[in-house]
Amino acid sequence: MVKLIGLNKIPTAVFISGKGSNLKNLIKFSLLKRSPIVIKIVISNKIKAKGLLFAKKYKIKKKIFNFSDQQIAEKNILKDLKKNKIKLICLAGFMKILSKKFIKNFKGKILNIHPSLLPKYKGLNTHERVIKSKEKYSGCTVHLVTSKLDSGKILMQKKVKISKTETPHTLKNKILKQEHLLYPKVLMKLYSNL
Ligand code: GRF
Repeated sequence: MVKLIGLNKIPTAVFISGKGSNLKNLIKFSLLKRSPIVIKIVISNKIKAKGLLFAKKYKIKKKIFNFSDQQIAEKNILKDLKKNKIKLICLAGFMKILSKKFIKNFKGKILNIHPSLLPKYKGLNTHERVIKSKEKYSGCTVHLVTSKLDSGKILMQKKVKISKTETPHTLKNKILKQEHLLYPKVLMKLYSNL
């Protein structure tokens, strides 16, 4: 009998630059029968990104692109995405801001996860800044990507309470746990009835 599983799942690319805990989580999610996505390729701008090991472990194609010339890198990435018939891009700790021109090719089809309650605390060192400002809550956000940093339409957020003894490290871990629940939840909400 011909195996049909996965045939109608959305061909997805995940972009990373670092540790890849969200990538690992998305891979595991994608392997569930009910998942609407299948991860076809992992793209990194860093050859040393630890997350690339998850691509290897789960036998997913991976490619590294040198962003010293971003225009050329994006052009080559687009070629690969086309070749792999990619219809959705999940940024997961990808530390580059994609150009308007690139994003135009995937309008409304690039998602990102950010470790704060956007629009607050865009950019880097989120947890340090949140704690310094004595916020009571922080959290994570999944949003659409535009060429303006961490500014596209918010799709879903999860709030966490900051404890009195919180450090940037404990807060990061607390929020990461929620990120791993939130990203699949958004994908289910957007695509599970296709
Ligand atoms: C996460 O906190 C994510 O929200 C942010 O970068 C971090 C990536 O972590 N965009 P990981 O590489 O997925 O472990």
